[in-house]
Amino acid sequence: MIKISPSILSADFACLAKEVKAVEEGGADYIHIDVMDGRFVPNITIGPFIVDAVRKITDLTLDVHLMIEEPERYIADFASAGSDIITVHTESTRHLHAVVTAIKKLGKKAGVSINPGTPVSALEEILTEIDLALVMSVNPGFSGQGFIPESLDKVRRVRKMLDDADSKAELQVDGGIKVANIADVAACGADVFVAGSAVYGSDDYGATIRAMKEACAS
Ligand code: DX5
Ligand code: ZN
Repeated sequence: MIKISPSILSADFACLAKEVKAVEEGGADYIHIDVMDGRFVPNITIGPFIVDAVRKITDLTLDVHLMIEEPERYIADFASAGSDIITVHTESTRHLHAVVTAIKKLGKKAGVSINPGTPVSALEEILTEIDLALVMSVNPGFSGQGFIPESLDKVRRVRKMLDDADSKAELQVDGGIKVANIADVAACGADVFVAGSAVYGSDDYGATIRAMKEACAS
């Protein structure tokens, strides 16, 4: 069964608790929290204090996606704020192995992400260390962008790398996931799907999450 991780970036922050509860009741598996620093990506969003606030209102897995330069500087803060999975970008640090090791030492699951322009080989040396591989299917920075079709083949190649390495890491895809395209991405071997605008832009969050799961099951 696939997992859906709604991104609160598309939620109404004036009533964040209600928005988190609504996707939880609607069958979300994780809560995806997009952290942006205005340097690694053009946008500025969320800090550890929001993670802490969300932690207080849900027991769902907090799937924290760090789109920040030198994530090593903030790993401890995001861990103590209550993150369950901390994902960093290969492009954001000189010392990927050290960052992944630090995340795991803090008792958290470690994810590693690649941008659309980054080759899958960037994941090769870290594959056996990680709990989650994230293929970005948009250039990170904003929700509501269109899925980059070339990502499908990339997902397929990362799936093969994980299988060949006997890795149990989850394969997550983030950006432009909709009810209409999720089955195609799942067929390439992804198992966790981030969905921002598709869920929070819909009238019925639960119905959208269910439709996504049903699309992959059929
Ligand atoms: C993009 C973020 C995504 C974004 C997804 O930089 O990492 O998580 O919120 O939004 P949608 O699903 O609307 O593309
Ligand atoms: Zn994200």
